[in-house]
Amino acid sequence: MAWWKSAEICSILACPVCRGSLQVESNDAGQGMVACLNSQCGGVFPITGGVPRFLVGEARAEFLDRTDLPAGFRQHFRREIEEIQMREGTQRRTRRQYSQTWERIYLYNYRGMPSNSGRLLSLGTFQAFIGDVPFGNGELILDVGCGLGRFVACSSHLAPKAIIVGMDLSSGVDYVYRVARHFNEQNLARCLAVQASIFAPPFKREFDVVYSFGVLHHTPDPKKAFEECLKLTSNGGKTVVWLYGNDFKVSHPWVWNLVHLARQFHSKLHPDLLWAFCNLYGLSAPLLKWRYDFSISKARFFWLDNLSNPYNAVFAREELLSWASDLRPSVGSYEVDKLFGGWRVAAKVE
Ligand SMILES: C[S@@+](CC[C@H](N)C(=O)[O-])C[C@H]1O[C@@H](n2cnc3c(N)ncnc32)[C@H](O)[C@@H]1O
Ligand SMILES: [Zn+2]
Repeated sequence: MAWWKSAEICSILACPVCRGSLQVESNDAGQGMVACLNSQCGGVFPITGGVPRFLVGEARAEFLDRTDLPAGFRQHFRREIEEIQMREGTQRRTRRQYSQTWERIYLYNYRGMPSNSGRLLSLGTFQAFIGDVPFGNGELILDVGCGLGRFVACSSHLAPKAIIVGMDLSSGVDYVYRVARHFNEQNLARCLAVQASIFAPPFKREFDVVYSFGVLHHTPDPKKAFEECLKLTSNGGKTVVWLYGNDFKVSHPWVWNLVHLARQFHSKLHPDLLWAFCNLYGLSAPLLKWRYDFSISKARFFWLDNLSNPYNAVFAREELLSWASDLRPSVGSYEVDKLFGGWRVAAKVE
């Protein structure tokens, strides 16, 4: 695999801790290290399988917690440690569960699909989601929470001259190049997968388009995550996200609360045990018929998706509209439209 040139990487990425410039050392197979050039920071991050791994918060909290700091300092960091542990502790579950989920979904959807098969999954969904956002003129595009990269492949198909960065907290990023390769080997040259959190994004440059499909409602602070997306968007650029709607919660509060309770329990299970449960719950396919036309196999993934995320926020339109008033950076145009039973929020940064 011919991987990215160091200079190209350095022009896009920055240290997620201090925003400093980076130095990259890697071989053609995409194995190596990224080092922060700020000597006060000294951050060093591994690159494996062509994916720079920028995981910081939890490691930082652990370090601060373990290190014998003077009492005053300790006090100073206590709040930060607690906050990070609270946030990352539950995001750790997200990371662990999704890492396994993507492996299963990859096997289910892509196993046996040859390279250059030209089969692009979810193109229709992606086009409906991205709407009239200008695409295809060599933009720099960011997919926040790209999972295994189905939309990274769609973007590189629709915007053949663009550079597309797919970022995810989980090891779903291990599949991004493989998914792009299934569709078209050429696309690999312009896709970069990065493992990192939207709460500590490792980027130097701003993006012309930042999009995120079905991700922010799985974070502890969706509004803050949205603001992070805006901060990564250039002046005149667009941020587009898709979030869950609250229709079902309003129409069936008891069922919703029951599933929410079940989620708190199931997301703590070992991913293999959770999958075993979901295989069992897949037998509920005939019961789900009143709402979804699922096979047993699809129903397993439905349950996996519904039970594996500790965070699963749903939104009323008014709540999302109210975000616009105090967002930083402030936005020029801001639209909230119904899409796929949830909300498409599109903002122009000015
Ligand atoms: C429902 S999946 C959506 C994947 C992809 N956008 C798609 O439509 O196929 C949610 C993804 O968000 C990722 N995620 C959750 N919290 C994140 C965070 N703080 N930063 C980056 N990605 C995150 C998860 O790892 C998971 O891959
Ligand atoms: Zn740094």
